Amino acid sequence: MLLNNRFICFSLFLIFPACLISQNSKDESFITPQEYGKKLYENPRNIGCIKCHGKNGESEVITSYKNKGKNKIIKTPKINDMDFKTFKKAMSKDKGIMPKYDLTDEEIKAIYLYITSKK
Ligand code: HEC
Repeated sequence: MLLNNRFICFSLFLIFPACLISQNSKDESFITPQEYGKKLYENPRNIGCIKCHGKNGESEVITSYKNKGKNKIIKTPKINDMDFKTFKKAMSKDKGIMPKYDLTDEEIKAIYLYITSKK
């Protein structure tokens, strides 16, 4: 009986921390840098890049209209194969159609990593 009790106590001692550890690791959401970039691309605290640049950052037509009898289209440039410097610079420009974003360097890097993996 004594041995049995000791055995149970000992087992609980081992099992409890093990439960806590496995619980903890389940709660932590591990996302890869690419998944993080994807989330930001879709939802960068402002209108999502995806709305204009499309799923893969290829050139996309935003809209088309007629002006003086001529068909006009507004489209985005391809952004999935450019160098990081140009990409980053475009993020802080505040003219043209694209809105200005308040993203950190880390966030811009994550989006860049994600979208250039789509080419
Ligand atoms: C409202 C539509 C729209 C949204 C939203 C948008 N863009 Fe743009 N983007 C454009 C257009 C249009 C251009 C072409 C330059 C211009 O007219 O502003 C452009 C240009 C760029 C360029 C420069 C490309 C080059 O060849 O110089 C990059 C990089 C870029 N966008 C990335 C992004 C990222 C990343 C996001 C999200 C954080 C985003 N864009 C959101 C429309 C958009």
